[in-house]
Amino acid sequence: MTGLFITLEGPEGAGKSTNREYLAERLRAEGIEVLLTREPGGTPLAERIREVLLIPGDEQMNPDTELLLVFAARAQHLAEVIRPALARGAVVICDRFTDSTYAYQGGGRGLSLERIATLETFVQGDLRPDLTLVFDLPVEVGMARATARGRLDRFELETRVFFEAVRGAFLKRAEADPARYHLLDAAQPLTQVQQSIDALLPKLVERVRG
Ligand SMILES: Nc1ncnc2c1ncn2[C@@H]1O[C@H](COP(=O)(O)OP(=O)(O)O)[C@@H](O)[C@H]1O
Ligand SMILES: [Mg+2]
Repeated sequence: MTGLFITLEGPEGAGKSTNREYLAERLRAEGIEVLLTREPGGTPLAERIREVLLIPGDEQMNPDTELLLVFAARAQHLAEVIRPALARGAVVICDRFTDSTYAYQGGGRGLSLERIATLETFVQGDLRPDLTLVFDLPVEVGMARATARGRLDRFELETRVFFEAVRGAFLKRAEADPARYHLLDAAQPLTQVQQSIDALLPKLVERVRG
């Protein structure tokens, strides 16, 4: 038995964290085991790496260091949490995963996509998400939401140009593989975003029950 691996992607303030609970509850209501987790992080050690990645510091972080830390945290998360949950047949919902690496370290920082792909295969083998929901919204709307939420992390302090590149990278990946990606208009009111999620549920439940 293998479960289903669902990732939630999109820029700051898109509503990933808000809607991950919603999706998890809808699936649990169907009697499905759901493991809800996030990246970077998801285990105590990986959460320590998350702090290194997100807390602004005096020393500039080298982009390669950033990339390697993201995948280091991911290796731990996969080994300790994601792979065991999938192996017992659970649905894993992960708030951010490797698409964020392509978007932030690739699109935002300009690191080579080939290098990211090499690390992806090194860390994940052939494991890829079964379904990726991309929460898309204009950069200024997302930044306004993130700013209203409180203190900004090291990524949220980036420039508008950076976030436009991040958004563009997510959209490009979604367009390239419509079988895996589902694009959601995250600028809509929350009730409408949740209606779009509801619309996905029957097929999802069917897929889990196989
Ligand atoms: N559709 C929406 N309309 C308006 N505000 C929203 C919507 N979705 C989320 N928010 C708010 O925007 C902020 C960022 O949402 P969050 O779920 O933390 O985004 P993310 O995890 O994608 O960065 C939160 O304060 C949340 O309540
Ligand atoms: Mg979030």
